[in-house]
Amino acid sequence: MRRAMCLVVSIVSVSLIAIFVINIGNDVLATNDDILLLDLPGQGLIRGSQTNTAWTNQTVYQFLGVPFAESPSGDLRFKAPVERSPWKNIRDATKYGQRCPELNTISDNHLNDDLEDCLNLCVYTKNFTARRPVVFYVYGGGFYNGSSQDHPPNYLLEKDIVLVVTQYRVGALGWLSTQTQEMPGNSPVLDVMFALQWVQMYIHLFGGDPEQVTVVGQSAGATVTGMLIISPKTPQGLFKRAVMQSGSVLANWATNSKPLDLTKKVCNRLCSNCDQIADIADCLREVDTVTLLKSTTDLSFSMTINDVYGVMPLMPIELLHNNTRCYPIMTGATKHDGSFVLATLYDGIKGAIGNMSLITPREFLSKLFDESHEVDPSGLAKNLITTLLYNATDLNGNDHKKLIPSYIDQASSMFIKSPIFTFARHLSKSQCPTYVYSFDYEGEWSRFGYEFGNEHYPFNGGVHHSNDNIYIFSTHNLNARDTEISKKMIDLWTSFAIDGVPATPDAPTLMPLQTETGPYFHIDERISIGYDFLEELRVAVNDPRKEELVRPDVEF
Ligand SMILES: *[C@@H]1O[C@H](CO)[C@@H](O)[C@H](O)[C@H]1NC(C)=O
Ligand SMILES: *[C@@H]1O[C@H](CO)[C@@H](O)[C@H](O)[C@H]1NC(C)=O
Ligand SMILES: *[C@@H]1O[C@H](CO)[C@@H](O)[C@H](O)[C@H]1NC(C)=O
Ligand SMILES: *[C@@H]1O[C@H](CO)[C@@H](O)[C@H](O)[C@H]1NC(C)=O
Ligand SMILES: *[C@@H]1O[C@H](CO)[C@@H](O)[C@H](O)[C@H]1NC(C)=O
Ligand SMILES: *[C@@H]1O[C@H](CO)[C@@H](O)[C@H](O)[C@H]1NC(C)=O
Repeated sequence: MRRAMCLVVSIVSVSLIAIFVINIGNDVLATNDDILLLDLPGQGLIRGSQTNTAWTNQTVYQFLGVPFAESPSGDLRFKAPVERSPWKNIRDATKYGQRCPELNTISDNHLNDDLEDCLNLCVYTKNFTARRPVVFYVYGGGFYNGSSQDHPPNYLLEKDIVLVVTQYRVGALGWLSTQTQEMPGNSPVLDVMFALQWVQMYIHLFGGDPEQVTVVGQSAGATVTGMLIISPKTPQGLFKRAVMQSGSVLANWATNSKPLDLTKKVCNRLCSNCDQIADIADCLREVDTVTLLKSTTDLSFSMTINDVYGVMPLMPIELLHNNTRCYPIMTGATKHDGSFVLATLYDGIKGAIGNMSLITPREFLSKLFDESHEVDPSGLAKNLITTLLYNATDLNGNDHKKLIPSYIDQASSMFIKSPIFTFARHLSKSQCPTYVYSFDYEGEWSRFGYEFGNEHYPFNGGVHHSNDNIYIFSTHNLNARDTEISKKMIDLWTSFAIDGVPATPDAPTLMPLQTETGPYFHIDERISIGYDFLEELRVAVNDPRKEELVRPDVEF
């Protein structure tokens, strides 16, 4: 498959560039710098750049924003990705490609561009002629946000791997569906599959081994990764292993069995005629990008159950029951993973009623259960969670602050930990190695409140959702203590990608699940083993330091 010309040109001198320019009849590049060019057969030339690893300053070659599909705009909006037609000029892959559009991140100077042209990926490598394991990252962002530029490679590339960070469609442009040919559903899952197919075709040119691809997903990206594992639509051999951080396809928030209701609702906000499916699809295909995004900021999105492509023909749990493939996995949660759900709920209720003392803890926690009647018709889960984490005196009282650890455990268990662990147990039953972790480290930085601040909350975020990623992607300026954790995380993640076994010096031997409850491992300054993962469902309540989750100076 390797054509003579598809070699890596590596650092080509300027005179060589001139030859290329003549060959392909291009604009002349006016530069005196050494230039990194790579030919992607059937696509075109891409120009890369260099960066360095964070701890040992090794040279990393990077190709940013490489398109792997046509822009999913115009007639292609909502549809499956299609192959990118070749480009003639040298494609500048020294700058990030466009993010998939989200209102906060669209800049005014790009309003005339095709904002939806976002199906591009980044590749990072240290050696073009090697054949190294590939880490393929699928970002989170609640199905409405995310980008490859938020995931820099400078820690991961300390190890001998190739990193690919893909983008996929988000928000209304990705997930709205009529479950008919017009808007088939789950196109963003196909985006990710398409990018994985791109990896199968091209990654050897970057020194990557297409037979050793590990998909790593976080949050919504972890649910998409779970979907790849169980979908009958996923081609055999597309990847070998998977890591799912803080997200499970079994979570209620990951899937939608009635996407048409949501799609109609959006149509009604934008167009006068939404009676027929064809009308809805016409309306939503013709509306401009920004108008569509503006009309959907209050809505949440997720994967479609029973899409036309057959990505998810049944409920995930049914697909899991029938699953026969083995992908070794590593999955887990942060210690207080649900505190972001609590924060969102708090903002919502406080915004609506003004003063929390107007509702009892019982009324507050029942909001966390909203919609669970669909998946818990007998109320068994609700009743058990209530009795495990609360008592009647407290629930009928008015001291919300006292119950903060219970609220956090409830949110963590329902939204993240229980769905993750159930997914893990199902896979491990088929003798497939399944590693489970809890990320317990509290460092200098937190993603609590994200970009919007967290000072107004009466609780702390604890080991918040996405805090694990602070140590995997080089986004923060880490102090010495945090850097030690970062090195551990990189060891664990890359050893799993390279050998299928997570390991780091000074840690005990880490084992996959053997029983219904464990073992699993705690990631902290010291790595330790736990034997009953269900203890994680009450970790905040049972914590001797649980008072630290409460902010004494802020009223609930
Ligand atoms: C890292 O390596 C680059 C060359 O790739 C060099 O220019 C730079 O000075 C080095 N930085 C440090 C801190 O050693
Ligand atoms: C790159 O990989 C090849 C093949 O494994 C190896 O021979 C070569 O020494 C490596 N180059 C560097 C700079 O590590
Ligand atoms: C989406 O993520 C970006 C960071 O990549 C952030 O600046 C922006 O505020 C986020 N948008 C929302 C609505 O959270
Ligand atoms: C599940 O597997 C069983 C046994 O192989 C098969 O009969 C059934 O049709 C499968 N169900 C689905 C939904 O694929
Ligand atoms: C909320 O109500 C309580 C009890 O009535 C009161 O003590 C408190 O000051 C109120 N808080 C605010 C911010 O109005
Ligand atoms: C319920 O909480 C109250 C108030 O904190 C406490 O006094 C009581 O012992 C608790 N009851 C049970 C059964 O745990």
